[in-house]
Amino acid sequence: MLDAMVMLLGLLLALLGFAPAPDPALEEAWEEWKSFYAKEYPREAEATRREVWEKNLRRIQQHNWEQSQGQHAFRLAMNHYGDLTDEEFNQLLNRFIPAEREGLVQLFQASAARKTPAEVDWRAKGYVTPVKNQGHCGSCWAFSATGALEGLVFNRTGKLVVLSEQNLIDCSRKLGNNGCHGGYMTRAFQYVHKNGGLNSEHVYPYTAMDTSSCRYNPQDRAANCSTIWMVDQGSEAALEQAVAAVGPVSVAVDASSFQFHFYKSGIFSSVFCSQWVNHGMLAVGYGMSQEHGHNVSYWILKNSWSEVWGEQGYIRLLKDGGNQCRVASQASFPML
Ligand SMILES: *[C@@H]1O[C@H](CO)[C@@H](O)[C@H](O)[C@H]1NC(C)=O
Ligand SMILES: *[C@@H]1O[C@H](CO)[C@@H](O)[C@H](O)[C@H]1NC(C)=O
Ligand SMILES: *[C@@H]1O[C@H](CO)[C@@H](O)[C@H](O)[C@H]1NC(C)=O
Repeated sequence: MLDAMVMLLGLLLALLGFAPAPDPALEEAWEEWKSFYAKEYPREAEATRREVWEKNLRRIQQHNWEQSQGQHAFRLAMNHYGDLTDEEFNQLLNRFIPAEREGLVQLFQASAARKTPAEVDWRAKGYVTPVKNQGHCGSCWAFSATGALEGLVFNRTGKLVVLSEQNLIDCSRKLGNNGCHGGYMTRAFQYVHKNGGLNSEHVYPYTAMDTSSCRYNPQDRAANCSTIWMVDQGSEAALEQAVAAVGPVSVAVDASSFQFHFYKSGIFSSVFCSQWVNHGMLAVGYGMSQEHGHNVSYWILKNSWSEVWGEQGYIRLLKDGGNQCRVASQASFPML
């Protein structure tokens, strides 16, 4: 009975807002972080955001300490998402919707006859535009799709044109995409196919908002596609052949773990990332590195969380490690 009363009292105090006090030793770091990322909060929200940020910071420090003891192959760092809880982050940013292969979509399978180079990096061949930032909008699917289309346009024209995610957000709703609340790469390609084109970022800039109506202008067509391919689901061998043969390929991963949100460098793998895919990215190559006398293979994935995140906006994800983060589960690409 007493125990129950003490618990109830604790609960009441928590409800009344007696949150743990901010750590005064972190005052300067907090102010610097806010100013660096231009964060401003209403007075009543600041304490909560500070608490979330401190918790994230401590988890990052703990991980990096474990990494220094040889427990992890990758490091974490604080970034512009430091004031979000894991749940808020995933609600806001991880909005890819997994799809079955539908009507138009063709299947790309691994073939023993196709030989692939040991390493591929399409960035070095001019196929990849600078890293973008999706902001507070669940439009990862649109960034993943433009990335694959940008590679295709480069292959056909020799010109690297930054393509418009907003065009996809505003105009592909009829195909089942849902703007900042999620979508599918394959349906973005279907839109481009049916629409007969896509505009460039230059003429159709990104607003990170859901509210505008479609402003596609056929006079300014900057990309095209005629067929859509889905890579044999779950096959990293097929994904490797597609990346080697075609160019950058759209992929989806499970990016819901805390470690993924704050990834900084190294070869990422996590037991917490093999649930369901929820984030669209772009596979721009793969490679191998020597780690403590072992060869470790990795995918090179472009993200849309700005250059602050990861290795200048990219992640190296463990390859041939049992479909890490389910990277080969929802890969697709457009063709002309
Ligand atoms: C485009 O891709 C084809 C094969 O898919 C390749 O032979 C050709 O060299 C590529 N063009 C450019 C400009 O990279
Ligand atoms: C796109 O396809 C249309 C119709 O097939 C064609 O007329 C146009 O030249 C193509 N544009 C580009 C940029 O490839
Ligand atoms: C690592 O890869 C290189 C190049 O492919 C190879 O020559 C070497 O034998 C490999 N080392 C190990 C330990 O597997």
